[in-house]
Amino acid sequence: MSENKIPFGPTYEEMLHPETIAPEIRAKALKAKEADELDPVNLFNITWKDEDNQVRKIVLPKEITGVDANIVVMLGTYFPSGSHKVGPAYSTLIEGCVDGEIIPGEHTILGPSTGNFGIGVAYICRLMGYKAVVIMPDNMSKERYERIQAYGGELDLTPGTESDVILTLQRTYELKKNPKNKPLAQFELLPNYRFHRYVTGNSAIEAVKGIGNGRIACFTSAPGSAGTIAAGDEIKKAFPEAKIAALEPYECSTLATGGRGQHRIEGIGDKMCTLIHNVLTTDFVTLIKDEDCVRGLKILKDGTDVLIKAGVAPEVAQSLKNLFGVSGLCNILGAIKMAKFLRLGPEDNVVTIATDGFDRYNSVLDELAHRTLEMEDFVLERWLKDIFLDADDKHVYDFRRMDLKEQLFQQKEKDWLPFGYSLEYLNSMRTMEFWDGEYEKYREYDEKIKQMR
Ligand SMILES: Cc1ncc(COP(=O)(O)O)c(C=O)c1O
Repeated sequence: MSENKIPFGPTYEEMLHPETIAPEIRAKALKAKEADELDPVNLFNITWKDEDNQVRKIVLPKEITGVDANIVVMLGTYFPSGSHKVGPAYSTLIEGCVDGEIIPGEHTILGPSTGNFGIGVAYICRLMGYKAVVIMPDNMSKERYERIQAYGGELDLTPGTESDVILTLQRTYELKKNPKNKPLAQFELLPNYRFHRYVTGNSAIEAVKGIGNGRIACFTSAPGSAGTIAAGDEIKKAFPEAKIAALEPYECSTLATGGRGQHRIEGIGDKMCTLIHNVLTTDFVTLIKDEDCVRGLKILKDGTDVLIKAGVAPEVAQSLKNLFGVSGLCNILGAIKMAKFLRLGPEDNVVTIATDGFDRYNSVLDELAHRTLEMEDFVLERWLKDIFLDADDKHVYDFRRMDLKEQLFQQKEKDWLPFGYSLEYLNSMRTMEFWDGEYEKYREYDEKIKQMR
């Protein structure tokens, strides 16, 4: 790559193993991370790893989780643009580029999203020189819109919230009739699956080295696009005993029971079984109450004294303040619930993900303050006990048997036949060959990316 050429960006392998990036590029990327977030070399910071090539993660204190098992949370907030959703945004764009389907200067990129993917798309397009239009509901946290616009993305808003994401898909299908518009369809396109299975899955496997028995007993992830949960496919390959739990808002339990309510966990619970969700490896669907996630976030953000009083080391309590968003709390509460449900012990590890950090949720805690009479420390102490320490193992739906998965396949048909996918294609997703075949394509794309840069 020449000095002044815009870097074409990393391969899947370089995202998993940033130590394999050419040293001068890596050094530049690490420097740009602090100095200039809009320098295109930041594409090479799309990784779970820190400058020492270690997965960014935290093992939650047991004074918070109340369970013997180790709850290991991988931290998405350190990705460029502030969430790991930049990974699928980049992967989808770069695959389109190397396939010759997306041409600079010619195409406008559409990003249907509830926020973070849209932020990722706006950011990646800024770095790679494309115009981005983010299609999202008009009732998400205001920090999301501000970030998209700050990166130069345009907004095309549809009515509603998290649970109205189907409207954004319909709008995308309408806009896509103009051949100048190219959607990065996170719910449908398999680069999202490839990124998370290869990069997130293998990073999770590395993350537990030296913790407990070094294996993963359970992985919990609340699907939005169901990209992240693809990490479970790789985890199961390495640790066949691992259980994968998809988490849903109790208020919008589409996979578990066909529920379709409004909820407060931005980024997840989109009232559908997404096309790229491999339900073959989803063992459980577990419901988490949205208010518990918002209150849980309040405790970790503002309850430092309460956590210290509960026995958490002061520096640890302090370090937790900005690491999570609402869906991160959902994933953590799901991990605790599953540790209880599966009767896991001190040698066992449950891995989960914090998609983003606190930076985009000030307004959510402001809103909590508005509708809550008292939030003094004694209230937070009560919440810590009720939400974390006394968490129950209820609302866990078992989908391990093939006949039970039928419900999930049917949901997928209901959601995707209307968008023109054939029953034959949907049926091909009923075998692991489909998913393994799609996964393996990351090698071909890596070759193409290397050739083209
Ligand atoms: C905050 C947040 N949490 C969780 C998710 C869900 O991740 P995934 O789309 O990979 O299922 C998203 C997706 O946008 C998100 O923005």
